[in-house]
Amino acid sequence: MTNNLRLGVNIDHVATIRNARGGGHPDPVRAARAAAQAGADGITAHLREDRRHISDDDMERLAHQIDLPLNFEMAATDEMLAIALRHKPHAACIVPEKREERTTEGGLDAAGGFDSLKPFVDALGDAGIRVSLFIEADVKQLDAAKALGAPVVELHTGAYCDAAPDDREAQLARVIAAAAHADAIGLECHAGHGLTFDTVGPIAAIPTIVELNIGHFLIGEAIFGGLESAIKRMRALMDQARADATGERSA
Ligand code: PXP
Repeated sequence: MTNNLRLGVNIDHVATIRNARGGGHPDPVRAARAAAQAGADGITAHLREDRRHISDDDMERLAHQIDLPLNFEMAATDEMLAIALRHKPHAACIVPEKREERTTEGGLDAAGGFDSLKPFVDALGDAGIRVSLFIEADVKQLDAAKALGAPVVELHTGAYCDAAPDDREAQLARVIAAAAHADAIGLECHAGHGLTFDTVGPIAAIPTIVELNIGHFLIGEAIFGGLESAIKRMRALMDQARADATGERSA
């Protein structure tokens, strides 16, 4: 590979489809193995409080039966902390969670929630789990993440992906500025949410972003052309955009 941009594949919605019927098919662990074959660098899964997609059993199998690093998305609750400490995933990404939301709407308020988040960041870090905070592309939130001692932030790209055409550039500029600030204050910078074949390029081109986490679009696209093909195409678009931005040749 000619660049350092990793792809984390979020397999939550394989579990969503399985849960529509109950039973075991399609199995998110099988999807994780297929993602590894297709070139993913990591697997991301969100164990929600209401268990609407990923189950406790899925999380246990993902943590212990796949070779790729696991990024465990979790709300800052005692229950989720205990699960993280039991399975010791490579990384834990703390996300805001509201029961009534369809997906993670907006980033964590790292600045306003500093005191309540601090024990979770510390406990995960002390256990050797790489802590990431899922935040908006906002200097105040980045500075709070740094002050909390999180080594990683994941920038929420939902506003950029959902923007009307005349607002897209402004939303992209916010992500670019935030990624530069993250680098300047020594935070590893990831990004994700809502990314598609059409929106991934400009985000992949931001040189200080080292990981993208992508789920819903890839699982949806897999219905039409297969998971492997969807991941390979996403990987190729990411690599091409990064290579174009840095002047390297894509592999
Ligand atoms: N990153 C985080 C922290 C998320 O919560 C999600 C959604 O679960 C994603 C990335 C992936 O978003 P999407 O499924 O829209 O690609």
